Amino acid sequence: MQTIKKRVAEAIVAGVNALNSEHGLTAAEIAALLEYPPDPAMGDLAFPCFRLSKVLRRSPVQIAQMLTELVKDDVIGGITAVNGYLNFTVSNGYLASDVVPDILAKGDRYGSSEIGKGKKVVLDYSSPNVAKPFHIGHLGTTVIGHSIRKLHEFCGYDCFGINYLGDWGTQFGKLILAYRMWSSRAEVEAEGIDKLVELYVRINNEIKGDPENGIPEKKELADAARAEFHKLETGDAENLELWKWFVEISLREYEKTYKQLGITFDSYLGESFYTDKMPVQIEKLREMGLLKIDDGASIVDLSDYNMPPCLILKRDGSTLYPTRDIAAAVYRKENYHFDKAVYVTSAQQCLHFAQWFKVVELMGYPWYNELVHVPYGTVSLGGEKLATRTGNVVLLRDLFALAIEKVKKIRREKGQNSENDDEIAEAVGVGAIVFYYLSNNRMKDISFVMDDALNFDGNTGPYVQYTYARACSVLSKAGGNDGKTVRITCEEEATLVKTLCRFGERVAAALQDYEPSNVTRFILEVAAAFNRFYHNCPIHTAEDDVTRASRLNLTAATKTVLGNAFELICLKKTERV
Ligand code: ARG
Repeated sequence: MQTIKKRVAEAIVAGVNALNSEHGLTAAEIAALLEYPPDPAMGDLAFPCFRLSKVLRRSPVQIAQMLTELVKDDVIGGITAVNGYLNFTVSNGYLASDVVPDILAKGDRYGSSEIGKGKKVVLDYSSPNVAKPFHIGHLGTTVIGHSIRKLHEFCGYDCFGINYLGDWGTQFGKLILAYRMWSSRAEVEAEGIDKLVELYVRINNEIKGDPENGIPEKKELADAARAEFHKLETGDAENLELWKWFVEISLREYEKTYKQLGITFDSYLGESFYTDKMPVQIEKLREMGLLKIDDGASIVDLSDYNMPPCLILKRDGSTLYPTRDIAAAVYRKENYHFDKAVYVTSAQQCLHFAQWFKVVELMGYPWYNELVHVPYGTVSLGGEKLATRTGNVVLLRDLFALAIEKVKKIRREKGQNSENDDEIAEAVGVGAIVFYYLSNNRMKDISFVMDDALNFDGNTGPYVQYTYARACSVLSKAGGNDGKTVRITCEEEATLVKTLCRFGERVAAALQDYEPSNVTRFILEVAAAFNRFYHNCPIHTAEDDVTRASRLNLTAATKTVLGNAFELICLKKTERV
């Protein structure tokens, strides 16, 4: 559509020139003014002529009327003047001769751009806290993060994905203690992360107690845990070995989830890696006079910026979450030379990022404005009970497993089965969750309703994956498409192609706003247009060979665009279902 807009804009400029060449408007400015009419029956693009009133010294209504005669290009199929607007329809000839061949020729690059060429982006996402449960709350950072990464890659950026594991902190003291008291190597090896989470939950519960019900809190356990963490920090070999092993066990589990999602990272350097990189930054803060002592703790005062102080060191001298983030950012700038560093976390961390970004600025690092925080709303589970051993958190893995089970059941009920049943159920089950999640604007709080996500007839992952599979099966039944014959003969075909050609714009919007829901919504539009085409325009039994060949090419173009869009949002391309 960008090309179409550009051509229409150039034609408008030429038309306006004929009336008064001193208007000073560029084609790019005109293109930016082009709108999509609210009702497609009015046209595919509309130009509001009031912008020209001043230079042409006429009313928008008159201008629109005059321009209908003067604006000409092959892309324009029809042009009408309505209430000061020029409404355009795109010509079917152009859709056939240019748009569809362009999609088929560009293939998996269709919709991409080069705007990020030569620029490096590091993206920090997923980043679970080791040995704490990888739960439904991490779905956001994981899939939004991955999708934002894919969008950047698709637009030419050189991307580096970092899983900044929460692999350091007092929780390890608790875990080491709990492990020694209540578990064994064999047990943890056998039960993996579940055991770690169970131990972690148990020790927290014991520390808290339940005073209302007569179970006292156990402060001594908290102290002992702190002592274990201190030993770990000061290099105690046995604790270090245990810590490494806990991280390993946890990673093994995360990998399974990442594999189901098709996600990989370029680095797993977690918080622990930055332990020895913090002192230099703390020293710099001190030298610059930015550190203040407040009740024994070291802080950076941010009252001038209407923010609470950023905590750098606790009273006991231990470092904090912001301290590590600052050191990590400096390290990443020096080692990865980013042009932009993106952090994807829940909106609960907005203040944290605003604070330490400000500290980086105050420290004089010129790249402070290359740091971007991308927040998202909360996720909860509505209408579904998931049995967990871990209190009231819902593990991502259990959520996926439940979705996969349900997909299997639905498929059995529908009488669908194939030799790769498990693979399909996984792709569709996990895809349903991802799609449901990414269908909403990222800042929206989401209550997850599994049955809605899995509704095969709704605007869901299964629905779009089945649409993709339908396109694939049409093509394989026909033995492929010729890649060249295209003729647009009806409204369904034209609408389908016009929908497809908006892909690039939607990608650009998704990238600019860090908003993958632009892509999910686009996918739904394509699926709707394709299904209308499929139901109303016979393909295999088309009236003649040219029409049949053309419809196969439209199907192939749909497959290409849907496939490219799926790639951007962690949705598996289901060739067969
Ligand atoms: N581990 C953190 C958590 O689960 C998220 C880390 C986000 N990244 C960062 N650089 N702070 O809350």
